[in-house]
Amino acid sequence: MLDRSEEKTREEFAKNVLEPRAAAITTPPMNVLGINLFHGDASAAILVDGRPVLAVAEERLNRVKHYGGFPRLAIEACLKAAGIRIDELEHVAIGRGVRANLGRKLGYALSNPDKLGNLLSIRRRRANLGDLHGLFSDEFGIAPERLRFEVHRVEHHLAHIASAYLASDFDSAAGLSYDGAGDFVSAMFARCEGSDIRVLKRFYLPQSLGIFYGVICRFIGFGEYGDEGKVMGLAPFGRDRFSELFEKLLRIDQRGDYALDFDYFKPTGADEGFRIGEDGRIKLTAGYTERLVQLLGPPRPAGAAVGRREQDIAFALQSRFEAAAIALANQLFEMAPEPRLAMAGGCALNSSVNGKLFGATRFTRMYVQPAAGDEGLALGAALYAYHRLRPKAERFHLRNAYLGPSFGESELRAALETRRLHFVRLDERELIERSADAIAQGQVVGWFQGAMEWGPRALGARSILAHPGMPEMRDILNRRVKHREAFRPFAPAIKAERQAEYFESAEPSPFMLHVYPVRADKRRELSAVTHVDNTGRVQSVTREQSPLFYDLIDAFERRTGLPVVLNTSFNDNEPIVCRPEEALECFIRTRIDSLALGPFFVTRRENGLASEGA
Ligand SMILES: [Fe+2]
Repeated sequence: MLDRSEEKTREEFAKNVLEPRAAAITTPPMNVLGINLFHGDASAAILVDGRPVLAVAEERLNRVKHYGGFPRLAIEACLKAAGIRIDELEHVAIGRGVRANLGRKLGYALSNPDKLGNLLSIRRRRANLGDLHGLFSDEFGIAPERLRFEVHRVEHHLAHIASAYLASDFDSAAGLSYDGAGDFVSAMFARCEGSDIRVLKRFYLPQSLGIFYGVICRFIGFGEYGDEGKVMGLAPFGRDRFSELFEKLLRIDQRGDYALDFDYFKPTGADEGFRIGEDGRIKLTAGYTERLVQLLGPPRPAGAAVGRREQDIAFALQSRFEAAAIALANQLFEMAPEPRLAMAGGCALNSSVNGKLFGATRFTRMYVQPAAGDEGLALGAALYAYHRLRPKAERFHLRNAYLGPSFGESELRAALETRRLHFVRLDERELIERSADAIAQGQVVGWFQGAMEWGPRALGARSILAHPGMPEMRDILNRRVKHREAFRPFAPAIKAERQAEYFESAEPSPFMLHVYPVRADKRRELSAVTHVDNTGRVQSVTREQSPLFYDLIDAFERRTGLPVVLNTSFNDNEPIVCRPEEALECFIRTRIDSLALGPFFVTRRENGLASEGA
């Protein structure tokens, strides 16, 4: 049940977003631009008649990882893809309610006088968010009176839940969003039905599971924004040594609510512990107290080796986080008893716990949108606004992640010719056969096809592919291409209908957001994609979602008997490549053996480029 303050907050919020209107009898095309701005992973997504035409994070275009400024290039890409000018934009939705939960924020600041200055400075900085027309006018050099779009502000977690539920094929679902924080809230429960999303509960700052995870990551020396995924990969190397301490650091009560112990963590309010520089780069502060240092010893300085202690802390952190996430999901099920779960927020990128939710809760189906983190707010805000504007409109189901920019054959050819690379043009069948041959022979193959993925995972559009059964392949990839920590696993992409033969779950994981145990008799066959705890972060591939990628895996299976390829993102310590030029630079700079760039096949050898050992 909601308490009175929850009810009140909901009313307050309802005033902040657009009231639903009756759909017109004849409905002309309508465009809605969703944006996430002045926040980590700034992004834009555009809907035309409720269907996403393009969605992209700014980092892919301006090449600044997790860029947190204004997504100017992403907005321009959206307008171009939708074929409209900026003065033709009808609706702009942002994944932030400027006034959402303001009462809570003020109450927190007033009870912690040292926080008041911070809150005021943040609000001053955000003043321009209150005038989006002015902001767009400045950014795009257009007179404000020519901008006619209506602005829709959607509370952060509501936009997250909308990004999952409104893109799912569920008629009804329980909605869950959880992350560090957004609009002073760190988690939200909702009941979703038709195109309605009704908030059931909010979890307010300073309590936050995302902050819990992030602060401990920083303590063990993973201090960059988005490093949580690395620590999730490190956790299985640890021993169960700190669990009792972690039970103290994060308490979980009978109901499933969580509470940080502020003897060890610094309580953080709105956007504290997090600063976006003028250059759009995000800086994080430590967030722990001296007591934590007394408890666990000194933090690991950046650059020092990762030792047993860091592995054991990562293990305890992931275990405690999983316990809290499972308790949260079970509490949600009590309030919204539905077999279907629509989930988003930065914590929903924790694929290890996602895989476990099936067994540990009563949810039997799950939809996690590929951009579950904050870039997904752009899509969620746009979908939410659209369905408020047209409550009777049909819903769209996002089946694949290929919403990013794409490039025509002439652009790909021009990029190759500018680089003076030798290449051949192949028809689709030849391209698949030649690429499958290369992977089967143990080569590392760049795979650049169609529209780029939306969200942090490469899913067969901007991927690097390799043999999943060669035990040395991890080292080869790390040495020659990825230059990343040796403990991080590589992921398997498997033909969806064969998943149950290789993994102990047949639940689809189309966006590589679920970790499942590898069957004992298949671990040797999948040695390069089986993690130290005998699991794999699966991408289930269907022909319907991704015909070319599926056919490639099929061709690889004909050669090796394995319906699986190793799939890692096409990049080398940079945002995933977006344009063909970036793919070619990465290909030349690293030791990728061959590259399928659209229909063009390029090899290192034929270009006289240095290869391994040369
Ligand atoms: Fe978020």
